[in-house]
Amino acid sequence: MKRDKRWEGVYSFEDSPFIMEILSELRNERTGPIAFRKGLVKLGRYIAYELTKTMATEKVIVKTPLEETEGILVKDRRNIVIITVLRAAIPLMEGLIKVLEHARVGVISASRGKAPKFEIEMKYVKVPQVRPEDTVIIADPMIATGSTLMKVLSEVKRYGKAKRYVVVGVLAAPDGIRRIKEIYPDVEVFVAAVDRELNEKGYILPGLGDAGDRAFGAPIKL
Ligand code: URA
Repeated sequence: MKRDKRWEGVYSFEDSPFIMEILSELRNERTGPIAFRKGLVKLGRYIAYELTKTMATEKVIVKTPLEETEGILVKDRRNIVIITVLRAAIPLMEGLIKVLEHARVGVISASRGKAPKFEIEMKYVKVPQVRPEDTVIIADPMIATGSTLMKVLSEVKRYGKAKRYVVVGVLAAPDGIRRIKEIYPDVEVFVAAVDRELNEKGYILPGLGDAGDRAFGAPIKL
């Protein structure tokens, strides 16, 4: 896990060959939807595992069949809310919840309009109560302009104040992180990699294309 020196609380995994191998497969245009979804599930699981290293723990006494010994409990793992940003975060959430199995899960649909405005439309919002001891994890694979996340964050904050807000994604663009950090300096970001830039259509470069289309196929317009 590597801390990005440009911002507080932004971490990526360019130093993890295994996570980079999964990311390489996701980037590859020849990777089909089945392998793409599996890759997202794997990334969710490994990033969640890395995230547990930043969580509060407490000592516990366990009794083995032979004697008592000291063990540990990752306390914060019991107090998690995962917000799944439809559609591409569905497989990422599936991976996250394998490690964070106690999580309560919220779902928000957010679709991004066309350039240059990139207006965000949120149609479906189901979010559980957020408690002061909670870590709220917002699962959104692509942090591009940051507009979706800012809208989701302002919505989620209406449901209660959490101990931590953590965005988990696959890729982020520097512009998106900058915008989020300006408004929400305390929000942490955990992504496989921070890419170079956005193109004029708001896609991350080198990126992996449209994560939702790659995972589930391109929708048609009626
Ligand atoms: N959303 C995507 O799916 N891909 C991008 O590159 C940017 C936003």
